[in-house]
Amino acid sequence: MDILTAIKERRSCRNFSDEPVERETLEKILDAATWAPSPLNAQPWSFVVIAGSEVKNNIFAEAERSREQAIHKSGWGWLEKYNVEFLLSAPVIIAVAGDPKKSGVDQFMEGGAKAYEHACAAAVQNMMLTAHALGIGSVWFTLFDREKLRGILDLSSDKVPLALVCLGKAAADPAPTPRKGFADKTIYLE
Ligand SMILES: Cc1cc2nc3c(=O)[nH]c(=O)nc-3n(C[C@H](O)[C@H](O)[C@H](O)COP(=O)(O)O)c2cc1C
Repeated sequence: MDILTAIKERRSCRNFSDEPVERETLEKILDAATWAPSPLNAQPWSFVVIAGSEVKNNIFAEAERSREQAIHKSGWGWLEKYNVEFLLSAPVIIAVAGDPKKSGVDQFMEGGAKAYEHACAAAVQNMMLTAHALGIGSVWFTLFDREKLRGILDLSSDKVPLALVCLGKAAADPAPTPRKGFADKTIYLE
């Protein structure tokens, strides 16, 4: 699949079949993650591959807690109906954690070390595009408290869990999501 097709066809998948993701496929997805750009090529990411139901249950409970909190803070009605059971049904979830010290020169700039987060986000995008090209659905998930997720994943204190990437064969085609196009979002300085 060519890159533009992968970019335009990928959609977030929240409805997975129970078909497992093969180890070889998983490793291609992880390998693609590591080819993302990063500050000073510091490669600030690390990955936790989660397939066991106990950890998934704990993640699900934390996502539900965060969802309740977000409902309370935002008052957004749609969050009441938003169902995160795909955290249980996805055959595999990859947690992406980053190391803030691996932020390159960014750590000396006002605003502090954030470049590691950008690099990890690029790694997540590589994973999702690769998954799509290999026939695997994915969704990028962030509805969790980072400290609580660090405890669930038993990560050391130098690592910040930034994203969960749920992976599996789609049980149904994900709904199309529109885009606004770039014309109104772009200015040219000449
Ligand atoms: C940083 C980031 C965080 C996201 N967090 C969540 C999330 O917590 N739960 C979820 O269901 N989708 C999450 N998404 C997926 C978006 O909802 C989705 O990408 C967007 O609606 C566009 O749909 P598409 O991916 O199908 O094009 C996240 C996406 C990004 C980039």
